[in-house]
Amino acid sequence: MLHGDMGPGVRKGMEIVVALGRIYGARRLAPVRSVQVAGVSYRNLGEAGLAFLSEWADQGARVRVPTTLNPAGMDLQAWRALGFSETFARRQRAVIEAFERLGARTTCTCTPYLIGHVPGVGEHVAWAESSAVSYVNSVLGARTNREGGPSALAAAITGRTAAYGLHLDENRIATLRVDVRCPVHALSDFGALGYLVGKAAQNRVPYFVGLDAPDDSWITALKALGAAMAASGAVALYHVAGITPEARSTDVLVPEHETLVVDDLQPAYVALNAASVSKHQRAIDLVWFGCPHASLAEIAGVVRRLDGRRVKSALWITAARDVREQAEAEGLLQAIEACGGRIVADMCAVVAPMQELGFRTLATPSAKGATYIPSHAGLLVRYGTVEQCVEAAVTGVWPLR
Ligand code: F3S
Repeated sequence: MLHGDMGPGVRKGMEIVVALGRIYGARRLAPVRSVQVAGVSYRNLGEAGLAFLSEWADQGARVRVPTTLNPAGMDLQAWRALGFSETFARRQRAVIEAFERLGARTTCTCTPYLIGHVPGVGEHVAWAESSAVSYVNSVLGARTNREGGPSALAAAITGRTAAYGLHLDENRIATLRVDVRCPVHALSDFGALGYLVGKAAQNRVPYFVGLDAPDDSWITALKALGAAMAASGAVALYHVAGITPEARSTDVLVPEHETLVVDDLQPAYVALNAASVSKHQRAIDLVWFGCPHASLAEIAGVVRRLDGRRVKSALWITAARDVREQAEAEGLLQAIEACGGRIVADMCAVVAPMQELGFRTLATPSAKGATYIPSHAGLLVRYGTVEQCVEAAVTGVWPLR
């Protein structure tokens, strides 16, 4: 591959894999079973990124393992109804077409593990989306570093990744024990905890002790926890005592670890909410669920809490297209739409041109969403429980506690 026997596109892929291996001191390559590529929104890629992808496809590069994509900057089918411009839609479609030519499955989601891409314990993969990386390492016990867009694609094209970092046993041991001494039950509590721990841990591996059963499933709770830690810090792997596959015994924690005690989530709720609460700014334009992309159970939870009430603000639940289709089959899509909400597929509000769609204020129970929306999408954010967000959607204003 490196000598170009399999064409210039494959050679370019292997050059990237080998260069990363040299930088990080890898001693061998590992075969990867699947790849998840980030950097899909035209808003982030721009013309330079689009040209890079197109050129790689022109060079004959094709993925050789199952490869899915991160969310794009718009719903690939309903973009017009959502208010996206023709210009943005044309460019975003060109990006998707370039990925199609490279052989990727153009399923655009940050939760591929909810639609059948479920790597096994110890399996090597190359995933790029930070929340998915955290989930696949921690909850599924597979192994990936936090890949960049080009390096994930290089792994897909060569079927290999350099075996360093979290591919190796010795780097999967926790160095930070987190003692949770306050109630953590709601989805937004898990996000708040993740926000605090991510800031303290940075790229260390935390080991959680003292977590009780969440209100929602562990899948939903851990997806929120990991996404938040990857956003406020750079945590790509964590363990939860007695829950995650590599935390069946305390061997996973180094003896000389540090300990972080968390006994109050309020600082996170304060930090994730915009400071100003003037009457004008309590108005909510959009309530956003599904960051990371929602499961069927999360959609059902929003339907249950809406209880047939019509919304005053816009309400979006972002999800993988397959999950949207399942929601339709189960009548959940119809229930959301009857209340005036939408299940939006393929996209993420953080990488979409949200201001161009006319939104200024957004409420979400996602700590990752609340961390990134102000800086990436330029909207003012309210962060709270799913119940608060549903109330905000129904009344059009952020409920004061
Ligand atoms: Fe997914 Fe976007 Fe949130 S990629 S995790 S919906 S910020």
